[in-house]
Amino acid sequence: MIFGAILAGGVGSRMKMSDMPKQFLLLGYKPIVIHTLEKFLLNTRMDKVYVGVHPDWLDYMEDLIEKYIVFRKEDIVCVAGGGDRNSTIMNIVDAIEAEFGENEDDYIITHDSVRPFVTARILDENIECVIKYNACDTVIPATDTIVEAKDNIIISDIPERKYMYQGQTPQSFKIGLLKKLFRELSEEEKGILTDACKICLMRGVPVHLVEGEVSNLKITTVTDYKIAQALIGGVLSD
Ligand code: CTP
Repeated sequence: MIFGAILAGGVGSRMKMSDMPKQFLLLGYKPIVIHTLEKFLLNTRMDKVYVGVHPDWLDYMEDLIEKYIVFRKEDIVCVAGGGDRNSTIMNIVDAIEAEFGENEDDYIITHDSVRPFVTARILDENIECVIKYNACDTVIPATDTIVEAKDNIIISDIPERKYMYQGQTPQSFKIGLLKKLFRELSEEEKGILTDACKICLMRGVPVHLVEGEVSNLKITTVTDYKIAQALIGGVLSD
């Protein structure tokens, strides 16, 4: 089976605009997370879509689904998110297994709730790629030169730009593989390996690339939110 996993367990501390986590802010007529959820529900290969929500906001999320979602409502499952992003993913994995058991051919398409402009193509290609290769990440080629400064003061490297990409989401995994890798991490590694693809990398598991879109932006700051509001007029669907 193919499971969507929308990560909405954060509180949006860098978006100093509202007491509400940023995924619940309105974009056009609907909250950001609802735009994202609809994109997943529109993909017919997605069997169920899980939403990992901060425990304080679970009831609120359920109410939003009731209010805004008009199709495939029965395919949505809300679960409590964890203390960090990977823990939210693992809470969703646990909920999937509690409901459907452990299956060799199960895949999870994990996605930031605050990337509402994900396209049908990106979702389709994630599904195809993860079935073929077990792990994939969505990226766009870096247009700016990437400058590394390990001490945050002086440049330590300027890698060749043609090999540099910016990571987006979805990040997709064979569930059995992700679970095994995550359970093998020490507590210290869990603190450092905040990106699920990095966990694969550290264990020598290849992660294939799926081409993202510049418009698949992550709403992190008030400026991003303003850009998203400008985009919503022209990027309602693919
Ligand atoms: N996320 C999550 N569970 C957490 C932390 C984050 O599901 N414990 C989700 C967020 O809701 C968001 C995505 O991961 O959709 C990307 O994280 P980020 O943009 O960093 O969101 P926040 O953690 O909410 O923001 P901030 O770091 O500014 O507090």
